[in-house]
Amino acid sequence: MRVHVLTLVALAGCISAGGQMAAPRPPMGWNSWNHFAEHVTDADVRSAADALVSTGMKDAGYIYVNMDDTWQGKRDSQGVLHPNERFPDMKALGDYVHSKGLKFGIYSSPGAKTCGGYAGSLGHEEQDAKMYAEWGVDYLKYDLCSMQDQMADLREAHPESPMAEYEMMIGAFKKMGDALKATGRPIVYSLCQYGMDEPWRFGPGVGGSMWRTTDDINDTYQRMMTIAYGQAGLGKYAGPGHWNDPDMLEVGNGGMNADEYRTHMSLWAVMGAPLIAGNDLSKMSDVTKSILMNREVIAIDQDALGKGGDRTLQLGDFSVWERPLSGKRLAIALVNVSVSGRDIPVNLAQIGVPKGAKIHDVWGNKELRPVQGVLNERFPGHGVILLIVSE
Ligand code: GAL
Repeated sequence: MRVHVLTLVALAGCISAGGQMAAPRPPMGWNSWNHFAEHVTDADVRSAADALVSTGMKDAGYIYVNMDDTWQGKRDSQGVLHPNERFPDMKALGDYVHSKGLKFGIYSSPGAKTCGGYAGSLGHEEQDAKMYAEWGVDYLKYDLCSMQDQMADLREAHPESPMAEYEMMIGAFKKMGDALKATGRPIVYSLCQYGMDEPWRFGPGVGGSMWRTTDDINDTYQRMMTIAYGQAGLGKYAGPGHWNDPDMLEVGNGGMNADEYRTHMSLWAVMGAPLIAGNDLSKMSDVTKSILMNREVIAIDQDALGKGGDRTLQLGDFSVWERPLSGKRLAIALVNVSVSGRDIPVNLAQIGVPKGAKIHDVWGNKELRPVQGVLNERFPGHGVILLIVSE
């Protein structure tokens, strides 16, 4: 049934009016939500921009500074939405972010209200998109939130027509996608509807540069891994201009240990996910910095081939995730899901590594030497060994 709707919104929308692709690589940056949530202020966003520069995050590729929900105030009689008192001058904030050589991101909802209960864009899509462009916005996260109420009303009124609410949702996302395109400004369009109704199928057609494939992450190993496992089969939908988004990074927020965060970062890179840090950048430990800014891991994420990755093998609580890279290379994450550290003999033929290939251990920053086709490495509990395999 859905195929008909999907055909209508076929792969059309990844290119902006100016002809530029907004997200040729998975977007990288920072977002206020995971750490500041509804308390975020103009000062927090400015200091995040400062910190991206001073910590080297910007040089590592993290360039978007994204305000999440709760910046909105009230609409005036002309329908113009004003920021609330925590954001006195949004254009000035955008200018400040740009003055640091960074890009500016904002958040809204296709519904009347955002998830935090603030004003959404329903009925004001073109007006809001124009205003974002005037503020110099480079990235919009558009979060379904209260649009679900409209969908539920429709479902109740027309139980005989289950496609109607789906079409309503696609129409709402497309409306903003078209409005952003009409501004002529390349704006990364980040769809957020928690992975319901297979957004990887309709996302490109509504102009989406990326789409959440899951409900919210939180700062626990269990939730992070549940999300990662939920990405099975989605690798093929990722590519230049349109990426699967398993949600923002929790690295550095304190709920996982360093091995778990290395697993988180490795899996997001192997999936070709957007890398949107969600921690307090003003208080990063050296370990956090070493995880978020590992250049080789980032290079896997940003690889020029632009293919997605996927889980390819599961043996008990050991799993293998692979992503083809440019230059006939392969990124492989070997993941020990067990809480205990252990020695796992990895048979390279079994995971598709050709005989004689060079095997580079990314986190260990060393070359690995298999013995008779088997890697014998110690895996930390909940830990990862991330490899780049080349000829
Ligand atoms: C959720 C969304 C989160 C965050 C939050 C803000 O729906 O998934 O990432 O944006 O809303 O209210």
